[in-house]
Amino acid sequence: MPSLPAGTVTFLFTDLEGSTRLLQHLGDRYAAILQEYRRLLHAACRERGGREVDTQGDALFVAFPRAHDAVAAAVSAQQTIARHRWPEDVSVRARMGIHTGEPLKTETGYVGMDVHRAARICQAGHGGQILLSQTTSDLIEDDLPVGVGLRDLGRHRLKDLAQPQHLYQVVAAGLPGEFPPLRSLDAHPNNLPIQLTSFIGREREMAAIANLLEQHRLVTLVGAGGSGKTRLSLQVAAHLLDAYPDGAWWVDLAGLIDGSLVPEAVAAVLRVREQSGTLLLTTLGDFLQPRTALLLLDNCEHLVAGCGQLAEALLQRCPGLRILATSREGLAVGGEALFPVPTLSLPDPAHLPPPEALGQYEAVRLFAERAATVSPAFKITARNAAVVAQICHRLDGIPLAMELAAARVTVLSPEQIASRLDDQFRLLTGGSRTALPRHQTLQGALDWSFQSLAEPEKSAFRRLAVFAGGFTLQAAEAVCAGEGIATADVLDLLAHLVNKSLVVVEDREDDRRYRLLEPTRQYARDRLREVGEIDGTRARHVEWFLAFAEETEEKLHGREQVTWLRRMETEHENLRTALEWTVAGDHWSTALRLAAALAAFWELHGHITEGRRRLDEVLSRSAGASLPPLRARGLYAAASFAADQHDWPQAKTLASESLTLYQESGDTRGEAAALRLLGTVARWQSDYEAAAGLYQQSLSSYQQVQDTRGVALANRSLGELARAQKRYPEAAARFTASLELFREVGDKASISHTLYLLGLTAR
Ligand SMILES: Nc1ncnc2c1ncn2[C@@H]1O[C@H](COP(=O)(O)OP(=O)(O)O)[C@@H](O)[C@H]1O
Ligand SMILES: [Mg+2]
Repeated sequence: MPSLPAGTVTFLFTDLEGSTRLLQHLGDRYAAILQEYRRLLHAACRERGGREVDTQGDALFVAFPRAHDAVAAAVSAQQTIARHRWPEDVSVRARMGIHTGEPLKTETGYVGMDVHRAARICQAGHGGQILLSQTTSDLIEDDLPVGVGLRDLGRHRLKDLAQPQHLYQVVAAGLPGEFPPLRSLDAHPNNLPIQLTSFIGREREMAAIANLLEQHRLVTLVGAGGSGKTRLSLQVAAHLLDAYPDGAWWVDLAGLIDGSLVPEAVAAVLRVREQSGTLLLTTLGDFLQPRTALLLLDNCEHLVAGCGQLAEALLQRCPGLRILATSREGLAVGGEALFPVPTLSLPDPAHLPPPEALGQYEAVRLFAERAATVSPAFKITARNAAVVAQICHRLDGIPLAMELAAARVTVLSPEQIASRLDDQFRLLTGGSRTALPRHQTLQGALDWSFQSLAEPEKSAFRRLAVFAGGFTLQAAEAVCAGEGIATADVLDLLAHLVNKSLVVVEDREDDRRYRLLEPTRQYARDRLREVGEIDGTRARHVEWFLAFAEETEEKLHGREQVTWLRRMETEHENLRTALEWTVAGDHWSTALRLAAALAAFWELHGHITEGRRRLDEVLSRSAGASLPPLRARGLYAAASFAADQHDWPQAKTLASESLTLYQESGDTRGEAAALRLLGTVARWQSDYEAAAGLYQQSLSSYQQVQDTRGVALANRSLGELARAQKRYPEAAARFTASLELFREVGDKASISHTLYLLGLTAR
């Protein structure tokens, strides 16, 4: 298409609002209306120098050499459509999105992120609305068509999962000015993560998966590691979000070791709290039953049974729920539809199309875009086209392998990359040219990437394998430093590994995290095992997370409670893993400390069953170790979980044991806590006299050590006792006194619970 503008181009995307509804309503009359609508659009665009790139149904895609003209054309098209005399029973309104960029021009049109962005901007709007990107707005700000203004709509996340985009609405005479909120990713609840790299192609697969999801309530994307299952599932979810008013929820199971905790992982994402006396799966079912939501279960392969059970149970109870899973194999559940994820589309090296046509192949585009991120001057040219095609072919279009190879263009030419990959694979195949299974191809690419690292990079990379569910820079420094690596070097090493696509960066609300994709992590773990560093590295991991948990425990009851609870939840996989290692290694003092330090978090964040199970395990298995002060804390935490679940006999036994140990070691604060718990057991068993005595003892012990929050807790307990005995004025006075103290320390959870109790008392 030689007449399309090249270089910097402004795209106008339009589509007809409610076209399906119109078609149903109008039947045979639709065609004539559509034709008329198109005629008006075309005329307005042509008049301003726009070139049509594509028309599909009611959608139109036009390219303009100048941003100013694109905006003027959009305004004039909206005005004529609004003025036009349509039949009385129809409303014809177009949404429009405009964005400027430097796309790659190919034989059939344009490719690149900017094209998709323009389409996504259009989709976020409403009929009659024109939306502009920041880039376009910057270009025309000082050169607006006469009578046209811009309204700043703020930042919005579009359905491409990229960083939020600043959007503007065109304001002009004859156009409506007020619209409902944008149809952006923020319109429905979700936790789909921001993607820092561009998404390529997969249009056919996305349509096919959307179709499957209409017919099946469980669809599993299957394929080898690195084949793009996760990325595709996220993209599909973003795309389909409008169909799920209660949102799309991504649950990454990669780091989870214990299949029985799949419901926990889902509940944590949905922020569903465990309720005492009810199975978590049942509570989840209750929550999802009335909702229309999409659940993404990512990385199910190592927990197939656990995921299958959860899917089966939830789908049976929740008619509006759909599940999209990713796994190396299916979940083997009735009604499941499998979708094998194909590799990216590839050119045939034997019949190579001209370089400008190579952009139609996804593998080539992925290579070109990733290469350009590390080496901005990189372009597919007549000279390198054949060799890039050869690389794609060698790597079988496996996305992760393509990313690893593309990262090397900073130091190697495409020819060098191709020839080194060849050597690598000749080793793997023993010289034969037969195609390798995909996991071996990926393995080869990982080997090659790994071998290119300098020694300290190799070491750091191997050690990063011990993390589960990602890590912060500080954690990486603690775990990687030592034996050849200085703490201060870790940041640089990490940056190198990110550049080589061996480590992924994630931007979260409050901090930056890093992660190894699952196949990469498994590869790193194998290398770590080879050099015999697993135990030492795990020990550093445990040490870091123990310190984190103990430090956080203090903060969980203070002003930054919410922040720290969220941080703990983010690190939950790492914390679980650390605890599992200490238990497996019989490191009882660490295990007791860690489990006790986690107890408050488990309790506050509703991980009651898991917390109780883990504490009971640590306590029973460490019974032989003589660690009285640590054991006292563990027993107290276990007693507290038993009480949460109203298991009073068990709570009493554990709390009494813990009280004895605290008394022996002279820990007054611990004593106070155990006494209060025993008081609560007595109160629930209606032994009010005993309860009063125990609570009073607890109160004076807390006062003795000047523990403000403890005094508040003991006072509140006395208030609850007074309430149970119908002494309401005393109850209210106690609650008020404790409320003041909780406010002093800033413990929001306790403040709200105390207010609730005050409310009950006032009734
Ligand atoms: N269509 C795509 N466009 C861009 N990048 C992709 C695409 N598919 C996969 N990738 C990238 O390739 C890598 C591996 O993909 P991923 O979805 O994690 O694979 P899997 O889940 O099958 O192991 C990731 O870095 C991902 O971002
Ligand atoms: Mg994955």
